[in-house]
Amino acid sequence: MIFYGIVVAAGRGERFGEPKAGLMLGGVPLWKRAVDALAEGGAYGVVLVGSVPGGIPGGARRRDSVAAGLAALPHDATHVLVHDAARPLASAALVRRVASRLAEGDVDAVTPAISIGDTLKRIAGERVVETVSREGLVSVQTPQGFSVVALRSAHAADDDDATDDAQLIERDGGSVVFVNGESGNMKITHPDDLAVAEALLR
Ligand code: C5P
Repeated sequence: MIFYGIVVAAGRGERFGEPKAGLMLGGVPLWKRAVDALAEGGAYGVVLVGSVPGGIPGGARRRDSVAAGLAALPHDATHVLVHDAARPLASAALVRRVASRLAEGDVDAVTPAISIGDTLKRIAGERVVETVSREGLVSVQTPQGFSVVALRSAHAADDDDATDDAQLIERDGGSVVFVNGESGNMKITHPDDLAVAEALLR
């Protein structure tokens, strides 16, 4: 297995209020933390997507930015780990865990997942309509690992939007398994999240 990384950093940060990838965390830009985790975890190289130093242009949707990264992957890549610049605290150990499961060779995709601690409710406007059972549900993270052939096939199979790449594999009939994620591998979505990440880093 020869695996590369793709870091997607081309989001507009609509919920955050500004593009997130260039924000600093502990003196290091978010996108660089994501790249470093992949490199430390054994990636042969990392394709960076977004308007950041060394980045290639992304697309309108996350999946379009991943597609741009896939198109730029070196030809010797058999596998790829796709990681959000918005998750700057993933460890190299997590990268190795995803890659090791992928190296077993029996699945198309591997995603980190953690159990859900909160009670889940469905809402309509301000009304709480029902409680959704947590049974059998997990929350997933990046980096997600793929066979390059499977991820390219999944991207070619449809053009519907997706919030992660594992979803494309699921829709294409491929196999996805999970490994344990990290509670510290939080996603920077809202401005408050950056202060929480700073605290975790300390
Ligand atoms: O917007 P959200 O936080 O869900 O984005 C997840 C990741 O995908 C971020 O790292 C963001 O920069 C990236 N992204 C992208 N291109 C887009 C949208 C999101 O690279 N068009």
